[in-house]
Amino acid sequence: MQRTDYLTNARLLIQNHAEVVILAAQMSPLKNVTVVGASGTLGMPLVKALQEAGFHVTALSRAGSPSTPPAGVVVKKVDYASPEALREALAGQDALVSAIATTATGEQYPFIDAAIAAGVSRIIPSEFGINTRTVSHPGLKAMLYSKIKLVDYLQEKSTENPGLTWTGISNSFFFDTIKKGTGFGFDLKTKTATIVDSGDEPFDLATLDFVVKAVVAVLSSPEKTANQYITVSGTVTTQNQLLEIIREETGGDWNVEKVASAKYEEVGNEKLSKGDYSCFGDFLHVLLFADGAGQAFHHPANDLLGLERQDARATLKALLAGGSL
Ligand SMILES: NC(=O)c1ccc[n+]([C@@H]2O[C@H](COP(=O)([O-])OP(=O)(O)OC[C@H]3O[C@@H](n4cnc5c(N)ncnc54)[C@H](OP(=O)(O)O)[C@@H]3O)[C@@H](O)[C@H]2O)c1
Repeated sequence: MQRTDYLTNARLLIQNHAEVVILAAQMSPLKNVTVVGASGTLGMPLVKALQEAGFHVTALSRAGSPSTPPAGVVVKKVDYASPEALREALAGQDALVSAIATTATGEQYPFIDAAIAAGVSRIIPSEFGINTRTVSHPGLKAMLYSKIKLVDYLQEKSTENPGLTWTGISNSFFFDTIKKGTGFGFDLKTKTATIVDSGDEPFDLATLDFVVKAVVAVLSSPEKTANQYITVSGTVTTQNQLLEIIREETGGDWNVEKVASAKYEEVGNEKLSKGDYSCFGDFLHVLLFADGAGQAFHHPANDLLGLERQDARATLKALLAGGSL
């Protein structure tokens, strides 16, 4: 086959794929989607993916916010303390996706009330981490209190208002965190790996690209996930598997330190007792990496949403090279 034929075929494939994706959004009863926190780490790629899927996207931002919203999106800067202003901003919207900052997850109640008043039919709250419905670690439960209570409220309100449905999405860690240089026990600068217990405990990761695909899939077929808290899994891996790939990709020697999960528990509790919320990271090491933690998602909603798992090696290589999959 000539090179030009390959290019033509590739263009056709891309075009067909785009048409299929747009068709999925066109077939959804949800057309107008408001994103809270659109300028954030998750919000930015989320807006792009929703637009590419054919949704009409509006970004809701705090009045006076210094953030720069993504290009090409309608922006409504609103005083979140004003129920009328919020209701007005949500009039005509079919869905509300919150990608608000972790520290502001307790401030999502007014969005739910305004969404009910405006007739919004689906809310996706700002979860996007570990499963807050099943988390039992006392320290993490305390840290995730505002997320847990918010989903309780959403559940209660959707029962009272059948027109309102919700979907909670848990995706474990963002794989992209590795790009910051210190994710999952790997310090890329000092080439030091901190392995918890044996390092063989399986856990889930998902790239931001994967997480936003999950949101698009939920909004494209909302009936499949109405009033459910779902888990999606990009990839299942272990610290030792990541270490092997990172060693291959970065070359050179890595210092490997072994730390018992009990140590993280002890340090986390000590920090928590002093009001030092960096204990979250210590507790996460216990929750996900400790031998026997059992946190890998066994029945993720991937099939339901048509999401394929990501290959750990290819994804990590792409992330280390500055991209994503
Ligand atoms: N699984 C993981 O590894 C992982 C990692 C990080 C985050 N997450 C989760 O993903 C979700 C989004 O997090 P993110 O890191 O993308 O958020 P982010 O970038 O920290 O912030 C998102 C947006 O929230 C708004 N915001 C910030 N402070 C606020 C406040 N005090 N009150 C109201 N709005 C405020 C801002 O939007 P405006 O300025 O436009 O108002 C900001 O751009 C959260 O639920 C978080 O827990 C998961």
